[in-house]
Amino acid sequence: MNIIWHNQSKQYHLFNEKISYIMCVTPVGEIGSIYFGKRIHDKDDMSYVINRFALPNVTVDPDTESYSMELNRQEYPSFGTTDFGTQAYEVEQPNGSRISSFVYRNHRIYRGKPAITGLPATYASEEEAMTLEITLADNFAKMTLTLFYTIFKDHPVIARHVAFKNEGASAVKLTRALSACVDLPDMDYEWMQFSGAWARERIPEVKKISTGALSIESKRGTSSANQNPFVIVKRPDTDDFMGEAFGFSFVYSGNFLAKAEGNSFGRLRVLMGIHPDRFTWVLNPGEIFETPEVVIAMTDCGLNGLSQTYHELYNNHLVRGKWKNTPRPILINNWEATFMDFDEEKILSIARTAREAGVELFVLDDGWFGERNDDYAGLGDWIENPKKLPQGMAGLSSKINALGMKFGFWIEPEMVNPNSNLFRRHPEWVLAAPGRKSSLGRHQLVLDFSREEVVDHIYGMLKKVIGDAKISYIKWDMNRSLTEVFSPDLNADEQGMVYHKYVLGVYSLYERLTNEFPDILFESCSSGGNRYDAGMLYYAPQAWCSDNTDSIDRIRIQYGTSYGYPISSIGAHVSAVPNQQTGRTAPIETRANVAYFGTFGYELDLNTLSEEEFDKVKEQIRFMKEHRELLQFGTFFRLRSPFETDQAAWIVVSKDRKEAIFGFYCLRSNVNMMPGFLKLAGLDPDALYELDGEEYYGDELMHMGVALTDLCSDGLATGKDFVSYVKTLKVK
Ligand code: GLA
Repeated sequence: MNIIWHNQSKQYHLFNEKISYIMCVTPVGEIGSIYFGKRIHDKDDMSYVINRFALPNVTVDPDTESYSMELNRQEYPSFGTTDFGTQAYEVEQPNGSRISSFVYRNHRIYRGKPAITGLPATYASEEEAMTLEITLADNFAKMTLTLFYTIFKDHPVIARHVAFKNEGASAVKLTRALSACVDLPDMDYEWMQFSGAWARERIPEVKKISTGALSIESKRGTSSANQNPFVIVKRPDTDDFMGEAFGFSFVYSGNFLAKAEGNSFGRLRVLMGIHPDRFTWVLNPGEIFETPEVVIAMTDCGLNGLSQTYHELYNNHLVRGKWKNTPRPILINNWEATFMDFDEEKILSIARTAREAGVELFVLDDGWFGERNDDYAGLGDWIENPKKLPQGMAGLSSKINALGMKFGFWIEPEMVNPNSNLFRRHPEWVLAAPGRKSSLGRHQLVLDFSREEVVDHIYGMLKKVIGDAKISYIKWDMNRSLTEVFSPDLNADEQGMVYHKYVLGVYSLYERLTNEFPDILFESCSSGGNRYDAGMLYYAPQAWCSDNTDSIDRIRIQYGTSYGYPISSIGAHVSAVPNQQTGRTAPIETRANVAYFGTFGYELDLNTLSEEEFDKVKEQIRFMKEHRELLQFGTFFRLRSPFETDQAAWIVVSKDRKEAIFGFYCLRSNVNMMPGFLKLAGLDPDALYELDGEEYYGDELMHMGVALTDLCSDGLATGKDFVSYVKTLKVK
């Protein structure tokens, strides 16, 4: 890993063993791209890449009389001169002009990686990463902007963000401040996005890139289940096992824009950042605005390689604290078992049986506080309901602890029901526009987390309940999109700051609670996977992946999630049948076989199971305890896509390749077909593995494959609907 500055040619080369990222100061003084891809040799000068032919009808820089930004690749394109593509930023200056040209002032190269104030970001030691800061200045706008690039030693990754500073005497307005732009020299690529909605999150969609733009976005105030802030730009023939691809992952939990734009001259521009709609940041003299981070990864060996990069990077350089790389407790959550209809005895009866089965953590879901007996009331009143918990959270937690289990509970701190004491006392604490109606989502309003006093108040209430009891886990939910985004606390000019300030408020509460209670495992949730993003993983190392607990649907949801997020982050539980969301009945084995490839837990009352099923649950828990480290932190490969076939398969392999576990799932049986083979991946080709009492070479299993005869042949049908297998492989 190194960052080289070629003073003569004014070029930068950031590289590690896998990738090279080469830039230059362009003839007009802005920063341009020379190359991003597989590692190449360093050279003093690559300016032959800069295009100086002024094509007909193209505008050029007056000093050079030949350089046009439109015909060259930019690193952080500006508005108002010769680039007509989507600009990365825009500054409204006191005279109303939005034209800007930030030119090279200086740079710094150093070991390590700086934090971003108030925002989540990847982190690294001086041995693990190097950073380049390039500062550019616009003398008319009297501002600087600094581009940050960090290259990691062991990962094919560049992390980017930007800081703007007002060096003038008057306020300016940032009306767009994206985090990164990557211009590529051709557009023979496809765009892969992860889209969906509640209960069907992160389903991959692939589109051909050409001239014009493709984009995804969220303007809901959260990253959303509709579009995930992670995209892949890949060659058309790239699949899970081969080919070139770039990943763009936004370490942020609010509104975002991700866009790919091909121009008429073959240039592909990829941009990512806070959505510019409804964003205006007032920058007073001397103030700095820092954008969130975009983590850009590159692979030349397929999408499994790209995913593994994000898994490794996020497990080791994003997740923090006690739960970093720590196998997760097997939990039981009472939501689908009781909803809000419970008392202490009911909870304890679920807990006792769960303990008997080997469950380690009990999670008390929604309904324990205020007048919360249905979802019309109580949010905001974070005080135990004495009818349900006579000795409060402290009493229940010690009873659960006495059973030999840890205890945790559910909160939704950003919300308030109109029917709550908090709202009656502070109706001005919600996001609402004066004189207008406030839209409801699940009968609730959104607290104005852009205001410090609101965050302080919620912090105080939560600190008390958590501090009074013995709490090991918190599920932090967020169950509606933001509408009527207006804060009475800010003046007219500042209303464009509310969305981002809201997210900063959420992060600040997370930061305070995780500092105050460093041992607590946080799981983020937003009606399931509405806020499943890299920003959240900085505070909460796992996320409830979806409210859809149907194992067959979950195969797709977890498969899609695995493209950008580690298996250790995927909240996955076994729930009752018929499934509450889909009505489907899958065998208890399959429900567990899917949940093993996640954090694993139960979301049902185990008292309702037959003796035979209960024994199976005990065995599942024993299996998970034995293998969870490998399942959650091993090297994960997608093997067979449920989006392309009626089957699905995946495998996790230990770092030393001596152990592996694969899962095979039949979503739908097919009649009169040969069962075929399942090719495994990631094994040591020369090692002899034991599988079901037989011996196989790694290369045999990877290239010939596991014969599916036993696994999925059932007379005429290749597998039965919803039948699955999880198998372990071990080097003898
Ligand atoms: C959301 C969550 C669920 C559950 C309920 C409680 O829908 O995603 O898991 O916690 O809220 O109200």
